[in-house]
Amino acid sequence: MNLIAAIAGLAAAQIAVGANVQSVFQSDQRASPPNILFVITDDQDLELGSVSYTPRIAKHLRDQGTFFRNHFVTTSLCCPSRVSLWTGRQAHNTNVTDVNPPYGGYPKFVERGFNENFLPVWLQDAGYNTYYTGKLFNSHTIENYHSPHVKGFNGSDFLLDPYTYSYRNSTYQRNHDPPVSHEGKHTTDVITGKALGFLEDALEGDRPFFLTVAPVAPHSNIDPGVLQGGRVTMTAPIPLMRHEHLFEDVKVPRTDNFNPDNPSGVSWIRGLPQQNQTVVDYNDHFYRSRLRALQGVDELVDSLVARLEESDQLDNTYIIYTSDNGFHIGQHRLPPGKTCGFEEDIRVPLFVRGPGVPAGQVEDAVTTHIDLAPTFFQLAGLPARQDFDGTAIPVTPDLDGTRHVHEHVTVEYWGRGVAEGFFSDVGGSPSVGIKIEQQRLTQFHTGPDGASMIPNNTYKSVRLLGEGYNLYYSVWCNNEHELYDLSTDSYQLHNLYPSNTRVTEEPQILGRSLSQAINRLDALLLVLKSCQGATCIDPWGVLQPADSIRSLQDALDEQYDGLYDNQPQVSFDWCDAGYIIEAEGPQTPLTSRHGISWDVWV
Ligand SMILES: *[C@@H]1O[C@H](CO)[C@@H](O)[C@H](O)[C@H]1NC(C)=O
Ligand SMILES: *[C@@H]1O[C@H](CO)[C@@H](O)[C@H](O)[C@H]1NC(C)=O
Ligand SMILES: *[C@@H]1O[C@H](CO)[C@@H](O)[C@H](O)[C@H]1NC(C)=O
Ligand SMILES: *[C@@H]1O[C@H](CO)[C@@H](O)[C@H](O)[C@H]1NC(C)=O
Ligand SMILES: *[C@@H]1O[C@H](CO)[C@@H](O)[C@H](O)[C@H]1NC(C)=O
Repeated sequence: MNLIAAIAGLAAAQIAVGANVQSVFQSDQRASPPNILFVITDDQDLELGSVSYTPRIAKHLRDQGTFFRNHFVTTSLCCPSRVSLWTGRQAHNTNVTDVNPPYGGYPKFVERGFNENFLPVWLQDAGYNTYYTGKLFNSHTIENYHSPHVKGFNGSDFLLDPYTYSYRNSTYQRNHDPPVSHEGKHTTDVITGKALGFLEDALEGDRPFFLTVAPVAPHSNIDPGVLQGGRVTMTAPIPLMRHEHLFEDVKVPRTDNFNPDNPSGVSWIRGLPQQNQTVVDYNDHFYRSRLRALQGVDELVDSLVARLEESDQLDNTYIIYTSDNGFHIGQHRLPPGKTCGFEEDIRVPLFVRGPGVPAGQVEDAVTTHIDLAPTFFQLAGLPARQDFDGTAIPVTPDLDGTRHVHEHVTVEYWGRGVAEGFFSDVGGSPSVGIKIEQQRLTQFHTGPDGASMIPNNTYKSVRLLGEGYNLYYSVWCNNEHELYDLSTDSYQLHNLYPSNTRVTEEPQILGRSLSQAINRLDALLLVLKSCQGATCIDPWGVLQPADSIRSLQDALDEQYDGLYDNQPQVSFDWCDAGYIIEAEGPQTPLTSRHGISWDVWV
């Protein structure tokens, strides 16, 4: 019996008796359950090319595993994205939608009951030894780390706010011990030691292990103001000294959407001024700093793989590498940051290597962070939970039969946009990018962490990739809309959503008019914005339960025009900072039953 068959058998056993996996593992020596090593970086882009600068990750994970090149996050901000990942649920179902209370952060995670009900708890119950080091959530602090302690880990050593992003003064908190400052040591050196220590513990255990390593690189550096007389500073990330000199000539890729001559996007993004040379130089410096900071992560992965190899466990370990959200620098004239729905912000790297995973393969299937918890369940031989909003990623060809291909990604965001990075009046001086430490804000408010905060960055979107189409549709809380056809406009510069400016020749989508396509996309988004479990996985089935519609292409059939012409539209009554349902317009679409009558879906 090969491993995959064993896992399938195990899943069946679980469903049948809800047995403890440990006992099932022990009853079949050959079915030695796989270990899982999960590495999650912070703010690492895919679109800006960061993965081209980490040769060891490329060698161990990309060349020896599969690169999922259409992998997306569902909320482009650390804490909501991480809580979604650890629970397998969209942010509208976790209602952890921000980095701080009242709408997010560790206290909100606890308040929502997830500390007793998230991935490490489930895996531990299933017989795994679980370990974690690095950043878990925002607002997990030196004040609240013990009220309560994070559950679910056999060993943990968490970075704590306000020192989480302090590259030269990280503060960690191990198991139930008090916090310890690592002043003077680089954060990546610290986490490397801790990760290797937990790997040692994990290898000594008599159970399979699930080890997560969550470095902060390449997130911006934030010093909480002790040194600066109480003033918080936020700078480009700080590399290890041995990497400071690298990539001197590297610049942000000059794609068509880099600091474009014409404004793009909607809402506050459309009002951004074009960046002058000083700002562009600063952005290039910021970009290089991120690549340099990632070198430490590259070495960290190298040492973990080397230790696994030495222990003979490498071939029984799945290694999954990703980031919590993407990042933009200069695209659409944006200062460094995330929180947008553009490709740069929602696409992240996903590499998977392990038993049965094809080496050197590039996979096109659309996958999201909501799919990761179901994927870990599948690797561990556990049946999917009913409340999972995603579906297991087919990481091995053997799992292909269980695959539920989806074309959609539900992207959602509430509250403030965040712009990062400092610039000052160095005006063309050759030292630009090195001395810049002061932030000068023009049109934005200054937030508590030294970045600028942009209100009303609330939107819902659907990203759709199918045979012959590649679309992004969004509705903002001020009821502005975006529609990009990425098959002809991969940099999202031409908003096709009809505005007062009349276009003479309407573009078509899959041979249908723009308005028919928009009707379908809007109805799909209406389902997705409040979907739960199965309805998130098969949203077309909600709209057309009797018609076996699986894709936009199917739904575009003319015979369904009536159903889609009459749908309530996705809209907002006002912009709010959290998931306030009263602000969010219609919640239920019309649905076709047997193609004849339309009922309200409840
Ligand atoms: C890990 O924690 C679980 C749950 O508390 C426990 O059953 C298991 O024995 C622990 N593993 C080790 C190695 O201590
Ligand atoms: C480093 O962090 C500790 C808290 O862990 C804090 O007490 C100390 O003041 C910090 N040092 C600096 C230079 O900010
Ligand atoms: C470039 O723009 C920045 C930000 O608006 C401003 O602070 C700086 O003075 C400008 N530099 C020049 C040379 O105009
Ligand atoms: C944000 O939205 C609210 C409510 O919709 C509105 O009153 C306010 O003026 C908006 N603020 C900005 C800065 O656009
Ligand atoms: C989400 O949480 C906020 C803050 O606690 C609350 O006001 C809101 O009603 C919640 N939303 C939903 C849909 O439960």
